[in-house]
Amino acid sequence: MTHKILVLPGDGIGPEITAQASRILAACQARGLDAEVEEALVGGSAYDVHGDPLPAETLEKAKAARGILLGAVGGPKWDKIEDLTKRPEKGLLGLRKHLGLFGNLRPALLYPQLAEASSLKPEVVSGLDIMIVRELTGGIYFGQPRGIEARDGQRVGFNTYIYSESEIERIGRVAFEMAQKRGKRLCSVDKANVLEVTILWREVMERLAPEYPDVELSHMYVDNAAMQLVRAPKQFDVMVTGNMFGDILSDAAAMLTGSIGMLPSASLNESGQGMYEPCHGSAPDIAGQGVANPLATILSVAMMLRYSLAEPALAERIEAAVGKVLDDGLRTADIASSGKRTVSTREMGDAVLAAFESL
Ligand code: NAD
Ligand code: IPM
Ligand code: MN
Repeated sequence: MTHKILVLPGDGIGPEITAQASRILAACQARGLDAEVEEALVGGSAYDVHGDPLPAETLEKAKAARGILLGAVGGPKWDKIEDLTKRPEKGLLGLRKHLGLFGNLRPALLYPQLAEASSLKPEVVSGLDIMIVRELTGGIYFGQPRGIEARDGQRVGFNTYIYSESEIERIGRVAFEMAQKRGKRLCSVDKANVLEVTILWREVMERLAPEYPDVELSHMYVDNAAMQLVRAPKQFDVMVTGNMFGDILSDAAAMLTGSIGMLPSASLNESGQGMYEPCHGSAPDIAGQGVANPLATILSVAMMLRYSLAEPALAERIEAAVGKVLDDGLRTADIASSGKRTVSTREMGDAVLAAFESL
């Protein structure tokens, strides 16, 4: 069966990093991946052409695709758009919501070669392998009511942090199943000492636990979890949390792996259709310079092969190619260290491609 894959380069460094990931995808096609690859506009670049960060045509193509590879969206150029529904980030959020991509997997895995690139001591991070499971289509990101309005002579801004039991249950099941396949430990992160929505979250996680007797469930408040992630991150195996806490904790976890430029992600719905993207953003401060790290995006292609295209051998080949390039001492600026060779985005892509072919 021919898989449809949609590439959405987006804004800022998005086109630079997806260009390298697309070359790896083409190499996979040459090695038997039966796929048709198309590109479309999303985010600010779509807004500039169509006045809409998620044009109908892009959404239709996304719905038809088994796997979507997204670079990044957003940037200062579009931060002043007054209609908030037209901001680039709404393109990304719209894709997640329309496709029902509630299960966001963010693996913080330290390549041993990068232990010295982490801002933490090598002994704190060596061997690190955490899977953050973030709920992606609910919570405070989507809760109603929301808005900015006048009240008592001044403006107030408000959002609603809301989860239904069924939303909590389905992300809980993703996390428990993930823990079963890994180290069998699941830490659910909440703020159940303050917020009712997460009291319910904790209750539902507890209710699910007996169905997964081989998994050890624990709970942690989010403020402590942020601290523990930088104090002793190896205590975690799988973490499960809501949309906003997961956003914040995954950026913190990214830094443990050396750079946010190393962290890929998968966003899945119930049918295994998925969107794959680096966890980082459009990096406006380095966009256009050809220095961004493309590895998170390339590793996102590996996740697509594993989770949506049932091609685990090709996924492993990409991951091994990344390992080889790091062994060979190549580093983009964000993971540079003395004695290693600092390379451009394109040179990193060249090297991964060569390693992929040579393995
Ligand atoms: P960011 O992740 O874009 O950048 C944070 C820092 O990390 C910057 O210094 C940047 O240079 C660096 N960085 C990020 N990716 C890198 C890479 N691949 N290689 C090397 N360095 C890298 O976060 P931000 O600055 O807060 O946001 C910039 C824009 O991106 C905003 O418009 C934001 O809304 C958007 N954003 C988009 C996504 C997404 O598309 N998934 C995610 C986060 C932020
Ligand atoms: C991410 C990003 C997005 C999020 C933004 C750009 C909407 O930060 O994918 O982590 O908050 O989910
Ligand atoms: Mn984020």
